[in-house]
Amino acid sequence: MEMTNQVFKTGIKELDRLIGKALIPGSFIVVAGHPGAGKTTLASSICYANMLENKKCLYVSFQEDKEKLYRNLLSVNINFKEMEEKGLLRFLKLPLPAQEEAVEKFLDKIMELIIKNNPKVVVIDSITPLLSTVRDNIKARALLQNFFAEIPKEIKGLVVLIAEIPMMEEKIMIGDIEFVADAILILKHRVERNLLIRELEIRKVRGVPINLAKVPVAIIEGKGLVMYAPPILEEVPSRPRELYEFQCTRLHELFKGIRKGDVIYISYPPDDRPSDIWLFIIGLVLAYDLKAVMISYKRSSEELRENLVKYLRTKCNCQEKIMELIKDKIKFYSINPAGISIGISSLWELSIIEKIILM
Ligand SMILES: Nc1ncnc2c1ncn2[C@@H]1O[C@H](COP(=O)(O)OP(=O)(O)OP(=O)(O)O)[C@@H](O)[C@H]1O
Ligand SMILES: [Mg+2]
Repeated sequence: MEMTNQVFKTGIKELDRLIGKALIPGSFIVVAGHPGAGKTTLASSICYANMLENKKCLYVSFQEDKEKLYRNLLSVNINFKEMEEKGLLRFLKLPLPAQEEAVEKFLDKIMELIIKNNPKVVVIDSITPLLSTVRDNIKARALLQNFFAEIPKEIKGLVVLIAEIPMMEEKIMIGDIEFVADAILILKHRVERNLLIRELEIRKVRGVPINLAKVPVAIIEGKGLVMYAPPILEEVPSRPRELYEFQCTRLHELFKGIRKGDVIYISYPPDDRPSDIWLFIIGLVLAYDLKAVMISYKRSSEELRENLVKYLRTKCNCQEKIMELIKDKIKFYSINPAGISIGISSLWELSIIEKIILM
């Protein structure tokens, strides 16, 4: 297993795997993105994951109304109210600074709360209105460097700065924030074929090579932000030697069998469903004590199972016995493709497979 000196969590396992090494005391990360891209959700997930490990958080917001935010977060399984009641969360809503002179007062207030509450994670949601008030870019950079980059060192913790990227723009454009941050995560969303596609771009992680720059993400009711990052393979793995030999004589004659990692693509003319596929799947599962997952984008999981029983009935009258034998070995899933993008559907497929492996 990979060694990591990670101290803080993001609440997203795959993200921890990619940037975890940068989440050590004294670091600050930037979560940037277009309006509605999921910045608040990601920053809150980071807060929540660490509060669950008894680390205190300070969440400073210029935008979010506390009641509304807490309610929205509950729908993605983040319970800020509970954390506040436990004394682990201090939420502070500040009005937008109208003049440059007001910024100083804001910083004093933030500092005061840090000293009083001793948080290990501090979120500023967002830094954009604060820095926009500072007209001079050099002053803005000094503010970032002298104040926000210093806080994590002072508290020996983690600071998450949220930055807004205007619609149609690609750059963060404030105070050269990209130079100062230890990690930069950019959330993006776009509409493709009427479907909303969300992506997370990992633009910089200090001290960690970035192998994977862009990953599909989704915000899911009851679950929150999920992402699937495929493993990075440094070299093409050699094909495992183990051969699963087909139990069907004809298939065996033609192909012998399959090896781990093989992909078999079966195509057939419309209206000619090759039900006999079942035979070689059941044959392999039973002969080698394997696990199989059947995922359909068209039929429900019950229908899949019923089709299998129907098919077995045409071959023998032992369908009940076979169903009993494969009960824990073959699992049926269905995914409704109507409301999801290709990226997300593959994410679902992979999460199903991961679940089966762990079962
Ligand atoms: N329970 C939920 N289920 C599915 N999607 C949700 C849920 N809650 C929020 N979302 C999605 O998350 C998006 C907003 O996320 P969030 O508030 O984190 O974005 P943001 O980048 O902080 O936005 P802003 O720029 O307005 O501050 C919403 O547009 C919505 O599509
Ligand atoms: Mg927000």
